[in-house]
Amino acid sequence: MSKKKLVQAFRRAISSTPKQKVRVLSASDKLDVLPYSEVPGPKPIPLLGNNWRFLPLVGDFQIEHIDKVSFRLYKKFGKIVKMEGLLGRPDMVFLFDPDDIEKVFRQEDSMPLRPSMPSLNYYKHVYRKEFFGNVGGVIAVHGENWQKFRSKVNQIMMQPRAAKMYVKAIESTSQEFINRIKQLKDDQDEVPKDFLNEIHKWSLEAIAKVALDQRLGCFDQTADPNTQKLIDAVNTFFINVPVLELKIPFWKLFNTPTFVKYINALETIREICMKYINHALKNPKKEENAELSVLQRVLKMDNDSKLASILALDMFLVGIDTTSNAVASILYQLSQHEEKQENLHREILRILPETNSQLTSEKLEQMNYLKACIKETMRLKPVVIGNGRCTTSDSIIAGYEIPKGVQIIFQHYVISNLDEYFTDSAKFMPERWLKTCPMSKEHHPFASLPFGFGKRMCLGRRFADLEIQTVLAKIIRNFKVEYHYKELDYHIHPMYTPNGPLKFKFVERK
Ligand code: HEM
Repeated sequence: MSKKKLVQAFRRAISSTPKQKVRVLSASDKLDVLPYSEVPGPKPIPLLGNNWRFLPLVGDFQIEHIDKVSFRLYKKFGKIVKMEGLLGRPDMVFLFDPDDIEKVFRQEDSMPLRPSMPSLNYYKHVYRKEFFGNVGGVIAVHGENWQKFRSKVNQIMMQPRAAKMYVKAIESTSQEFINRIKQLKDDQDEVPKDFLNEIHKWSLEAIAKVALDQRLGCFDQTADPNTQKLIDAVNTFFINVPVLELKIPFWKLFNTPTFVKYINALETIREICMKYINHALKNPKKEENAELSVLQRVLKMDNDSKLASILALDMFLVGIDTTSNAVASILYQLSQHEEKQENLHREILRILPETNSQLTSEKLEQMNYLKACIKETMRLKPVVIGNGRCTTSDSIIAGYEIPKGVQIIFQHYVISNLDEYFTDSAKFMPERWLKTCPMSKEHHPFASLPFGFGKRMCLGRRFADLEIQTVLAKIIRNFKVEYHYKELDYHIHPMYTPNGPLKFKFVERK
């Protein structure tokens, strides 16, 4: 290996090792505490550790079916499972008990460390260091740089009223989507099998409107080819993250084909988004009372175009596929549960009497059954199936000593599909989330957390909620959604999504 390559490999290796601080998470009765070595879990073998389990043919862990692997681990080992011996990465400890998850979250320090995407950390802090400098945004950024950034943008992104001002903008992109569905349907009312890509277009259009106040024209006949390139690159990025994270990280030593694909995707995302962002920076809104985009609101607060641009970049990176996969999943669940869809349609019809009645935040506020359908889908099939935190000190969790630096993974998908935490957990029952339903009092607050929790919870949650509610209200008001093929399996590609052609039928309603 040449000297230059050796230096690059060394930088990669150190850039993905988070700095640690010592802090005690909790100290229950020391006498009952078992040592770390006794945490149950699959045993590693010499040389290959537990990595062999991800190998084709011999291994029994498939990345696109981590949901099933997680369930198997829970059934075999119980509520705490250690996954050790994964070469090039710290041990992981899986938690399947919401009480334990609550304890970890409640004792988070001021700069919680979410142990994900070391490869993105490398991209932002080594590969494109000259671009990001010390303003890396929030995704895959930790410590003081994360805290400084997040505290500046938190209010703009997280206040409940922050998203509400964009109802009109999101409604207009959703109306474009309704028109697009009408255009795409064949004479059997069925849309083409790559319908998920159409939902991605809507989602990209919505983010561009909110973040930059720009219409990209994704649905136009003469759409800019960059819009599809961006959608494809975001997909490539998400598909390759788990491969780079869970398989032996050879990318830390040399440029593997997966790593090259991944870096190229990130470069495409950065270049295309920066074109849109720079255009928005050069063409600020002139009217006095017009709604400002997120970019403009950040500029108004801080006049820091770097901060505003990197926030918009992070929004494009993680705000497209998350939302669109959630919408695909909710539509699929509603197509499988006709009675629930009819309940939802009745609610929407009452609030939006005409197919083109205008939406407002007050009207959305009244759509409790709609919100319940969204929550129920996110419980059964959370698009992000697990989340985590890195321990920043030696801790005691679930009765075991856990050393600092271990990655604690909250297994939300498994937990929210257990009867112990949700009655008849396999059933799609939106009613369980309605305040008027006694079942709504039963849920453990940490058993279903689709947007995470605490200081690092999803920064785009308000926008995601608004986008999903708006587009679903419009779709269900305008169409009855059906799906007439064999039941779809779900897998991670790139989010937890129904796996197969989404050839929905959209039957128009009056
Ligand atoms: C259904 C849609 C979405 C889901 C399920 C989702 C889920 C999540 C989850 C689970 C996390 C980790 C939270 C934690 O560690 O506690 C997260 C973080 C994040 N999300 Fe979302 N998200 C969605 C949509 C969005 C959108 C639309 C945006 C941007 C507009 C966005 C921006 C972010 C950012 C920037 C973070 C990192 C926050 C930080 O580390 O400080 N998300 N999201």
